[in-house]
Amino acid sequence: MLKVDNINVYYGKIHALKDVSLEVKEGEIVALIGANGAGKSTTLKTISGLLRSETGGITLLDEDISHTDAYKLVSKGMAHVPEGRRIFLQMTVLENLEMGAYTNDKDVKEKLADVFKRFPRLEHRKNQIAGTLSGGEQQMLAMGRALMSNPKLLMLDEPSMGLAPILVQQIFDIIKELHAAGTTILLVEQNAEMALAIADRAYVLESGRIALSGTGKELAKSDAIKKAYLGG
Ligand SMILES: Nc1ncnc2c1ncn2[C@@H]1O[C@H](COP(=O)(O)OP(=O)(O)O)[C@@H](O)[C@H]1O
Ligand SMILES: [Mg+2]
Repeated sequence: MLKVDNINVYYGKIHALKDVSLEVKEGEIVALIGANGAGKSTTLKTISGLLRSETGGITLLDEDISHTDAYKLVSKGMAHVPEGRRIFLQMTVLENLEMGAYTNDKDVKEKLADVFKRFPRLEHRKNQIAGTLSGGEQQMLAMGRALMSNPKLLMLDEPSMGLAPILVQQIFDIIKELHAAGTTILLVEQNAEMALAIADRAYVLESGRIALSGTGKELAKSDAIKKAYLGG
């Protein structure tokens, strides 16, 4: 589904991604884990066309998207739920969801019904201003908005950030359900333990480089991972 081949990304003189390659196959959940500042968000932003690599290439469903505009990638099946949700705080829940369907004006009602089925709380609050939702509800709205575009590849940047443990569990349950329903997922998380538990495969970023990769199970057992990310 997605191939990232040897990308190098800079912020001015800062070399944020160094020879990063990774792959997400259709139907997989792939986790990208790593410490704060490792380059996880930079990786997702480069895949979704918000930043550009100086080298290498990126393909989505065998099509070269290295130079494709971000907004066009949505209609090609890519959805990116950014770090910090980035919902439209002054708009209602319903308006936020409708914005998510801007590439897909055919079956908006149907998609909306799907999203409300998956997130019943959003339906109860559809006329509420998004800025007044709780953190967990805002994350659900950000995910619901992404689902409105009917994505084949859903990229989530730290969906559990700042949430109470019970909500973190709910968000992970929803990720598992979306995966079971056929969505391919690239999941960025600082919560390595939970991410590895649901991932088919995972990559570990360290200072802009892929330091390790393997199945979720292998990495969860690895001593290096346990030391660095799983508290011993
Ligand atoms: N807009 C920016 N300008 C300059 N440096 C940045 C910018 N965004 C991120 N960086 C730097 O790039 C590196 C990777 O950041 P990021 O991808 O946000 O890491 P992560 O998501 O893993 O926490 C960090 O050193 C960070 O300080
Ligand atoms: Mg980040």
